[in-house]
Amino acid sequence: MTMSAVPMGQSAQHKSFPGPRGRPLVGNLLEAWNDPLDLFGSGTLRHGDLVRFRFAWIDYYLLNDAAAAHRVLVENAKGYHKSPNYKGLKIMLGQGLLTSEGDYWKRQRKLAQPAFHRESLRTFAREMVDATSDMMARWRADDAVKTAPFDLHQEMMRLTFRIVGKTLLGADLEADAREFGESLNVALKWANEYVESVVRVPPWVPTPNNRRFSRAQRSIEGVVRRVVEERRKSGEKKNDLLGMLMSARDEQTGETMSDRQLMDELLTLTLAGHETTANALSFTFYLLSRHPSVARRARAEIASVLGTRDPGLEDLGSMPFTKALIEESMRLYPPAWVVERYSLEEDEVLGHHIPKNAIVAVSPFAMHRNPRYFENPEGFDPDRFLTADPNRPKLAYMPFGAGPRTCIGNAFAMMEMQLIVPMLLRAFQLDLVSAFKLELDPSVTLRPKAGIWVRFGDLPKRSN
Ligand code: HEM
Repeated sequence: MTMSAVPMGQSAQHKSFPGPRGRPLVGNLLEAWNDPLDLFGSGTLRHGDLVRFRFAWIDYYLLNDAAAAHRVLVENAKGYHKSPNYKGLKIMLGQGLLTSEGDYWKRQRKLAQPAFHRESLRTFAREMVDATSDMMARWRADDAVKTAPFDLHQEMMRLTFRIVGKTLLGADLEADAREFGESLNVALKWANEYVESVVRVPPWVPTPNNRRFSRAQRSIEGVVRRVVEERRKSGEKKNDLLGMLMSARDEQTGETMSDRQLMDELLTLTLAGHETTANALSFTFYLLSRHPSVARRARAEIASVLGTRDPGLEDLGSMPFTKALIEESMRLYPPAWVVERYSLEEDEVLGHHIPKNAIVAVSPFAMHRNPRYFENPEGFDPDRFLTADPNRPKLAYMPFGAGPRTCIGNAFAMMEMQLIVPMLLRAFQLDLVSAFKLELDPSVTLRPKAGIWVRFGDLPKRSN
């Protein structure tokens, strides 16, 4: 849970936004630290879909209503910036797409967009399938993996990191995966703690924690810097994201991106592009182990469409149930569990007043469990995504956000998951180890706190 020390424009209009009173002074701060998902859930249950929380001196408006989310993220997107709670990430990632604003963001988004067009995705599909095949071959050859429980989340992180490296940077980062992963954990933990701290120690003060962060940051940057330098040296002109960003010129000045800008964008995409997808895949296999009949139905679909050949982009439309189960998994466990904004001016949301300088949040986790939009919201029921529900507004389901700041990697991530899930599901039976209990860690992304521990079970009928 992220919080920040932004003084709020207080106003008497607050009364129109119901919310818990909380404790003296701290308000709901302790609950937010302990279990923000529960706080959001219980807050909306008691007070309705528009709730105001108080975190010490900060007012925090949670909009758990699709029309209200539309107002803030789409209709009046210009009236908001990303919330100051992204500050930790900003220190970590600099001025990348995720954290920049205004004209600069707009220009960078335009430059990066072509790398995510359909034609680029076509070439990425092959890389995704190859990386997955390599991982599967490694599993098959590894006695430890074959016989003992292993952490599927770690494996998915390694896989999606490799895919981002290959597709966006044109580099094989397999050898860097472990160190990069560890550094990323340190840096993300730091970023999260930084925004949560009531008293913030600036990152340049050499506390042990800050020094660990600096080391992690240097190591993460080192990987990306090496990739850029190697490309410069080779003089190779590739049509991947790195190539596009390196050759992109500002329409007015004709300048190319500085090394700093390039690094910030690449770091952002590497981070945004692999952890989220790895989390979604991990939750998906967690759910499939708990719902064997869904796994059986998906396997039947996969077998009838693919037989034993590898999936390709052209197959994805023919496996609607597989797509639906991925969507349903992201409904229950959306990797981006909260999207926060900061109001630049006063606003009115469904007749409720939002003051200037307020933090406004939409939580896909809470929205996706709203019984107004989803019948039996706690149930895992992929069928609900097979036919469009005319009563469900568009923003009731928003794992990739909405409006101009919507995820640039939406189609990339969906394609990646729609390729990986059938490949793994067809070849392996991944059973949760007995007594495994899923614990959620809602920090920068929603991830499994202690991994997803599985072991190989017997496939009902081995087809690969
Ligand atoms: C399951 C996987 C993913 C999920 C759930 C996800 C979710 C999101 C969400 C909710 C946002 C909007 C945040 C906001 O409005 O504050 C976002 C933004 C973003 N995502 Fe993703 N994402 C995923 C995968 C990816 C991938 C694969 C990439 C790149 C390869 C990517 C790159 C980005 C970037 C650069 C932004 C910032 C866009 C901008 O502000 O212009 N994401 N993502």
